[in-house]
Amino acid sequence: MKIAVAGIGYVGLSLAVLLAQRNPVTALDILPEKAAAVNAGRSPIGDDGIRRFFSEKRLLLTATTDPVRAFSGADWVIVAAPTDYDPDRHFFNTSAVEQVLIQAKRYAPEAVCVIKSTVPVGYTAEIRSRLGLTRLLFSPEFLREGHALSDNLSPSRIIVGADPEDPALKADAAAFASLLLEGAEKKDVPVLLMSYPEAEAVKLFANTYLAMRVAYFNELDTYAEMKGMDARRIIEGSAWIRASGRTTITPASATAATACRRIPDSSLRILTAYLRT
Ligand SMILES: NC(=O)c1ccc[n+]([C@@H]2O[C@H](COP(=O)([O-])OP(=O)(O)OC[C@H]3O[C@@H](n4cnc5c(N)ncnc54)[C@H](O)[C@@H]3O)[C@@H](O)[C@H]2O)c1
Repeated sequence: MKIAVAGIGYVGLSLAVLLAQRNPVTALDILPEKAAAVNAGRSPIGDDGIRRFFSEKRLLLTATTDPVRAFSGADWVIVAAPTDYDPDRHFFNTSAVEQVLIQAKRYAPEAVCVIKSTVPVGYTAEIRSRLGLTRLLFSPEFLREGHALSDNLSPSRIIVGADPEDPALKADAAAFASLLLEGAEKKDVPVLLMSYPEAEAVKLFANTYLAMRVAYFNELDTYAEMKGMDARRIIEGSAWIRASGRTTITPASATAATACRRIPDSSLRILTAYLRT
């Protein structure tokens, strides 16, 4: 399986390294210094797992800034380009994702493209129809920066969105999940196949839940500080709440949430984007 990964950031590089254990992978970026670092066996991002794999493993990984070289002959194209939120215009800037998909269509027309970037609900179906891309999937990414490779080696779940009316695409979705599992160390990983908008909504609601959890414990922490109370003791006493479904708030997760004193910008923009969709 020849794989191209567009975007040498946390998402793209961790996936490229994961998959390059068993498959030839070409990573593409617009920044020559990132491609040069990968080709020199250095990680251009701060991630201990990726650094360790570069030094210890024989990876089938090369990098380039040339889309023709990256995409020619690829069976899979993974899109991990940025989708930064524009706070003035209140929208996700999906132009880099679109640029990659246009290049993929031109240079790897037979490939299955998988969007790993975070996109608004409805984006995948819209771009698929607008660009005439039949083999397109969306798979949300849940990694944490700094733990990108280890989170992909031990994923909590793998989610792939496809068109449920298209049996060939459903087979592609299952094959993509298998590809990720092949590179993972943890094998007992739930795989959930769903529609495009459901998979897009999973990413938005997961981020929203995390943001609300941070906000909840920040409120608790602020209240305790104002009243001269020990926040840790309140958390210990109240932290075994079964919040929703299978999630239990433990003292450890609560402490991690209080350590984050404000809702991260990325979560705020997800919240805003969700409210607009
Ligand atoms: N970082 C995270 O924790 C995280 C987690 C889940 C999802 N995501 C999402 O995944 C996507 C990528 O995030 P990231 O953190 O890896 O971003 P990043 O900024 O670390 O990396 C993106 C890379 O893509 C490159 N790039 C830009 N335009 C390109 C193009 N046209 N072709 C090829 N490469 C291009 C950039 O130069 C950069 O190196 C975003 O949509 C983000 O929201 C990020």
